[in-house]
Amino acid sequence: MTNSKPGQTFQRLGVEGAPLLAALHAEAFQGGEIWDEASFASLLTVPGAEALVVSVDEQPAGFILTRTILDETEILTLAVRPRFQRLGLGRRLVEAVLPKGKIFLEVSVSNNAARSLYYACGFVQAGLRRGYYQDGSDAIVMISRI
Ligand SMILES: CC(C)(COP(=O)(O)OP(=O)(O)OC[C@H]1O[C@@H](n2cnc3c(N)ncnc32)[C@H](O)[C@@H]1OP(=O)(O)O)[C@@H](O)C(=O)NCCC(=O)NCCS
Repeated sequence: MTNSKPGQTFQRLGVEGAPLLAALHAEAFQGGEIWDEASFASLLTVPGAEALVVSVDEQPAGFILTRTILDETEILTLAVRPRFQRLGLGRRLVEAVLPKGKIFLEVSVSNNAARSLYYACGFVQAGLRRGYYQDGSDAIVMISRI
């Protein structure tokens, strides 16, 4: 467990964390594509998958889920509960995984909050995947600058 600002704690969770991750994800992605407990349980058993949860005063506030294959790490999802947003937690979660090396992710072209966060963390646009999401919208591929 890593300690950050007073009251903030970071903890890695294994497959037992699937119900919590599903609840946090559903709250953060209101109206979006929902990943259920079974999806998280399955993702967390994949080799190289890692979930990092941030709590504020012992209340789970958000998480980042990554998967590392050889020297590349993908941010599979990132979520901060609405009441904890704009406090710097998303940035801290991303910064916590940056030491893994080369990082990439897909983000919806319409997700201004996430795109701004990744740009602020030093990511750059590397490509576009057309019709990537269930609703037919496009995804921007972003990579970390090493
Ligand atoms: C995207 C998300 C994770 C950001 O989390 P957060 O904890 O609020 O982000 P931070 O407070 O660390 O913000 C860091 C920077 O990102 C940018 N940012 C974050 N939210 C933003 C918003 N709503 N509008 C514009 N810029 C935003 C800003 O540059 C911000 O720095 P500032 O607060 O000093 O201006 C959060 O909004 C979320 O969970 N959204 C729903 C799920 C989602 O879209 N996940 C990403 C999938 S790829």
